[in-house]
Amino acid sequence: MTDTNALRFASDDAAAVPLFVIEQEALEAWCAGQSPAVAAWVETANFTAALGTNLIVPDAQGAPVMALAGYGTAPARARGRFHLAGAAKSLPKGTYRLAGDLPVALSDMLEHEALGWLLGGYSFDRYRAQTGAPARLLAPEGIDAARVEVIAEAEALTRDLINTPAADMGPRDLEAACVTVAARFDADITVIKGEALQEQNFPMIHAVGRAATHAPRLIDMRWGTAGPKLTLVGKGVCFDTGGLNLKPAASMGLMKKDMGGAATVLGLAQMIMALGLRVQLRVLIPAVENSVAGNAFRPGDILASRKGLSVENNNTDAEGRLVLGDALAYGAEDNPDLMISMATLTGAARVAVGPDLAPYFTDDASVCAALEAAAQQVGDPVWRLPFWEAYEADLEPGIADLDNAPKGGFAGAITAALFLRRFAGTEARYTHFDIYGWNPSAKPARPKGGVGMGARAILAALPQMLDL
Ligand code: BES
Ligand code: ZN
Ligand code: ZN
Repeated sequence: MTDTNALRFASDDAAAVPLFVIEQEALEAWCAGQSPAVAAWVETANFTAALGTNLIVPDAQGAPVMALAGYGTAPARARGRFHLAGAAKSLPKGTYRLAGDLPVALSDMLEHEALGWLLGGYSFDRYRAQTGAPARLLAPEGIDAARVEVIAEAEALTRDLINTPAADMGPRDLEAACVTVAARFDADITVIKGEALQEQNFPMIHAVGRAATHAPRLIDMRWGTAGPKLTLVGKGVCFDTGGLNLKPAASMGLMKKDMGGAATVLGLAQMIMALGLRVQLRVLIPAVENSVAGNAFRPGDILASRKGLSVENNNTDAEGRLVLGDALAYGAEDNPDLMISMATLTGAARVAVGPDLAPYFTDDASVCAALEAAAQQVGDPVWRLPFWEAYEADLEPGIADLDNAPKGGFAGAITAALFLRRFAGTEARYTHFDIYGWNPSAKPARPKGGVGMGARAILAALPQMLDL
């Protein structure tokens, strides 16, 4: 929906304006190396090279001869993620090329910063008549420009899917989005829908989604015939009213984003396929709407599950773990080498770490080591939380095997993760991300709205996690 050109580097353009990226403490020395006219212009404009600022230097006719982007100081940069994008955002439209000696901090993160520039060009304009044209960048030398473009495009897909309101992104539309991606990469896709979910033993996906107009479904996409088996499972609750335990207005307002896990795994899958990684990829997305009607599942209902465990539903708003439970049990039947779920699963995860970090759970120290290193490298922060065994007891209610909503209000993200692990088992190096999927305030390269979390860290960690 974003102009796809905005997500690519500009092609060779002799007229590209040279862009000098300058750290605050290096500005004086830089000016000393320029003509007196340029130095005077910088001074008159009060340009201090503060992070996120820029300055155009015109010729006598008013045409830009060069541009300066402020790269601030190291402490200022430590607070953000994409720094070049901050300065690029307000550059006049046109094409730019990085010029001069780059700050060391920038050349160390050049691929990441170039990605930030492309993502800064993202805007969700499906419902707007007019769209703006962002400043474009020639691919800097020394980076894998094609890879950066693949990542930018997939991240834009994730954002678009999350940003689209539920009326246009119901289970049917989410399926259509998966079919489009599958067709592009020649992946196989099957969809088990409506009553067929009951017949083929996905009782919890059926129960959660049956009250909605668009039937619940399990989307199953496979790609690649060689290499380790990687299974990605994404929560695709296209709207979460809370069900009969209806959410209050303030909590329901944003619930179009409750398919953020599905959007993020689909974006990650697109990256993996476009880059041609040697894996046997499977994507499982239970796509449902947690809706209210006479046939909705009720508080107190006990559901059967694919795994054979019975689940007492003490809160119909804890629906994500139900649909994921059946999908994870199905995924585990195939014995993947690594199974990762991503879900906007609990309010507790957001309370614990806020919207900037992707909390995750794993029992596997090598998965943890790979993720931590990769997250740092690609600027996609993750934070490990524990599968804390002692809280297993909280999942066990009176009259069924499991309780979907433990009382007490303690450790909600952990008890939800433990619930999922009961279905995933421990064989498949199960790793679970409880993401927020939403950026509450605009930051460079990350406008307010839907956002992928953890996908780039996982992508960068895959070679180590799967011995690729
Ligand atoms: N989709 C919500 C979780 C959520 C809420 C994620 C807000 C991000 C922002 C989920 O289905 C839910 O409602 N979970 C409940 C579980 C509780 C009833 C055990 C929660 O976290 O409050
Ligand atoms: Zn819910
Ligand atoms: Zn939910």
